[in-house]
Amino acid sequence: MRFLVTGGAGFIGSNFVRLLARKYPDDEIVILDKLTYAGRRENLRDVLDAITFIHGDICRMEDLEKAGACDVVFNFAAETHVDRSITEPDLFVRTDVLGTCNLLNYAMNREVSRFIQISTDEVYGSIPSGSFHETDVLDPSSPYSASKAAAEHLAQSYYKTYGLPVITTRSSNNFGPYQFPEKLIPVLILKALSRQPLPLYGTGLNVRDWLYVDDNCTGIETAYEKGSPGGIYNIGAGNEKTNLEIAKIVLKTLTMDEDLITFVPDRAGHDFRYSIATEKIRKLGWAPSYSFEESMDRTVEWYKQNEWWWKPLL
Ligand SMILES: NC(=O)c1ccc[n+]([C@@H]2O[C@H](COP(=O)([O-])OP(=O)(O)OC[C@H]3O[C@@H](n4cnc5c(N)ncnc54)[C@H](O)[C@@H]3O)[C@@H](O)[C@H]2O)c1
Repeated sequence: MRFLVTGGAGFIGSNFVRLLARKYPDDEIVILDKLTYAGRRENLRDVLDAITFIHGDICRMEDLEKAGACDVVFNFAAETHVDRSITEPDLFVRTDVLGTCNLLNYAMNREVSRFIQISTDEVYGSIPSGSFHETDVLDPSSPYSASKAAAEHLAQSYYKTYGLPVITTRSSNNFGPYQFPEKLIPVLILKALSRQPLPLYGTGLNVRDWLYVDDNCTGIETAYEKGSPGGIYNIGAGNEKTNLEIAKIVLKTLTMDEDLITFVPDRAGHDFRYSIATEKIRKLGWAPSYSFEESMDRTVEWYKQNEWWWKPLL
């Protein structure tokens, strides 16, 4: 088996590559990554011997050709930060939509046996109560979530039109080792470690459903192994927390005072609450392995122990 993992030098991609290398030691793992500000070879330092790395852009067919033939594609490559999508929407359309289209064309030519499109629960938009199911209408709010929705619609269209065996995962907000310090949890941890104010948008009451990255990776692997072509799978652990609660948990884990919490003007178009129903992926035998508390402890500890990784990024 030859796996192609695009965006494999990013946060979730690199953690997923570690899982692949462990579970499929005899198979080939090719990573194609543009190494934007969010992608780093350091994220793969412990698996470099187990992979082939290609520095390339999913928007360029000549770069994809360098990967040669492959059996399975996991498409993690994307621009991913909502705030950046508000100031640079074109970049998100280029990578997340046009790049995915290019990769789908590559996969068609290579007759892959699976194309796993990594999407997000943000495609549903906000929900005041209850949880979104896979069949619900998509109503994205930010240029980021709109570009991810477009990408997965395109991927589904390749399944329906050409029979490309596409599987889509929509996970909730991830956290864990190697997450770039622009996303909420690493921002809060690193601010706290340097005793600076912890900034929260608006009232801090926006709700996200948090998922430890290793649990998302096993969910993606389950969808690949057991999911049906054309299938869409929500992946979430049911850890709904307000941003304010998250800030308090980070400070408590570090035995620090809540006075450091500060409120900043809200993000434009900020979705209030995300929540997904996960019965479908659970019916395939998946369940999260880590409690929220254990995941937070592991994450805080990782940032404490790996200053070499985050210091140059600040
Ligand atoms: N982080 C989350 O909470 C979350 C939740 C749900 C879904 N997702 C999705 O999971 C995937 C990975 O997210 P992440 O948080 O690891 O993102 P990330 O920003 O940490 O990593 C993205 C990776 O893609 C690479 N990349 C960007 N443009 C590229 C291009 N044109 N060609 C090749 N590589 C390119 C970057 O260099 C980087 O390595 C994304 O598709 C994202 O939409 C993320």
